[in-house]
Amino acid sequence: MLKDLVRQNRSYRRFYQSTPVERETLLGLVDLARLSASGSNAQPLKFMLSWQPEQNAAIFACLAWAAYLKDWPGPEEGERPSAYIVILGDTAIRQTFAFDPGIAAQSIMLGAVEAGLGGCIIASIQRDRLRQALNIPERFEILLVLALGQPKETVVIDPLGPDGKIEYWRDAGGVHHVPKRSLEDLIITG
Ligand SMILES: Cc1cc2nc3c(=O)[nH]c(=O)nc-3n(C[C@H](O)[C@H](O)[C@H](O)COP(=O)(O)O)c2cc1C
Repeated sequence: MLKDLVRQNRSYRRFYQSTPVERETLLGLVDLARLSASGSNAQPLKFMLSWQPEQNAAIFACLAWAAYLKDWPGPEEGERPSAYIVILGDTAIRQTFAFDPGIAAQSIMLGAVEAGLGGCIIASIQRDRLRQALNIPERFEILLVLALGQPKETVVIDPLGPDGKIEYWRDAGGVHHVPKRSLEDLIITG
């Protein structure tokens, strides 16, 4: 059921790093992005795949994790993603990419969950450093990085408390809590 996949499709930030993700799996995920909606059907997104430890380490060094978890610098060695998909915008096709990267990212993340994986969409990227590390030509804008792997953490959805706080947090048992607004709070009536 789609609702189950969407519920399960949380942002996971700790992984069984030693569980590999094959290049073929990543290709299958990008194929979901390929089939997704694109403004004016321009299809300006391109993708770089990483599934090998050395390149994974180079990408990891360019990312910032979980800004609300002030005391947590990100996943430690052994709990880092096993793969990444870097979403690029091809400026030879379009100058701006609007909502395409978000739609592509969601298709990929849902596919990952269906495949027994999980991950995190990351926009907090040292883009110049990543461009250098992966030798990405100037023609491509770096839009998002999708971190992927076999999740090694439990993430639960909580209703927003009376204090209205939207910050995610981790409890003493290491469970990651994500407050979500209620459905009725989202609906505006004129
Ligand atoms: C566009 C976008 C950018 C994000 N960038 C980051 C990021 O740079 N680092 C990070 O740890 N999480 C990032 N996230 C994950 C969000 O923090 C996460 O979606 C949010 O806390 C809600 O949790 P959930 O995905 O489990 O619903 C990003 C999510 C989106 C949609």
